[in-house]
Amino acid sequence: MRENDTIADIFREIRVSIMATVCVRQPQFGGFSFDNCKRNAQLECNAAKLGFSLPNARKTGTTICGVVYKDGVILGADTRATEEMVVADKNCSKIHYISPNIYCCGAGTAADTEMTTQLISSNLELHSLSTNRLPRVATANRMLKQMLFRYQGYIGAALVLGGVDCNGPHLYSIYPHGSTDKLPYVTMGSGSLAAMAVFEDRYRPDLEEEEAKLLVRDAIAAGIFNDLGSGSNIDLCVISKGKVDYLRPHDEANKKGIRTGDYKYKQGTTGVLTKSVTPVQMEVVEESVQTMDTS
Ligand SMILES: *[C@@H]1O[C@H](CO)[C@@H](O)[C@H](O)[C@H]1NC(C)=O
Repeated sequence: MRENDTIADIFREIRVSIMATVCVRQPQFGGFSFDNCKRNAQLECNAAKLGFSLPNARKTGTTICGVVYKDGVILGADTRATEEMVVADKNCSKIHYISPNIYCCGAGTAADTEMTTQLISSNLELHSLSTNRLPRVATANRMLKQMLFRYQGYIGAALVLGGVDCNGPHLYSIYPHGSTDKLPYVTMGSGSLAAMAVFEDRYRPDLEEEEAKLLVRDAIAAGIFNDLGSGSNIDLCVISKGKVDYLRPHDEANKKGIRTGDYKYKQGTTGVLTKSVTPVQMEVVEESVQTMDTS
């Protein structure tokens, strides 16, 4: 700035310097960045040309549900885990611990439901320790939905969250993209339509515990029998004020029958008509095994 500059000169210089600042590209702070979407579309296009295919989105193969009854909430789940057409686990646990008064059923990618509920359970424990109170279901719901929304649906976890806190019983369903519903009865997973049909038919407010358990059992059984992604046993979790009843298994809906036939045949039952031996040409490779010092 010079001695004899007019006010107008000074303002013009300030304006020029502001414009210079505005024109510089700054790295993005906060908000969503969709740069990777363009890159992924490019990769997908190239992969198809090279004859590769990218992994598909996962479908849920599960029936989970929950209901609010007179004294609390009841959560229910089947115990089948699938990988495409294969039953990977016939007796897996889908009702996860969140806190002493809150549990959570998970459908979708097994690892995602497990790790998500473990992480939120851990964070709620720390919160509980610092506040000296039992956590509230609304808090667990918000922590779960904010985490799932942050990951834009890429964490494949569809949850049914239920518990009893200082404000009474609460039941939420949480979708993989982070939206939630608070309802007196909810269902999730591929068997959710079958289970919901049972609830829509028979739900009444203020059910007694035994009636509510039977309703949840029948809802999960509907999923087990009508949805191929669901099967095996029925697990229940009955949460009331100051008490949790984790029933695993509560019921085996379709017990496997006993095989009555005998399929063992005497040796030689099938006649050998021809026999040919083809020697395999092999190159013998010398191989020595070295032990590693693990002390
Ligand atoms: C399923 O696992 C539970 C323990 O996690 C066990 O008590 C139950 O007997 C198992 N059910 C079957 C049918 O194997």
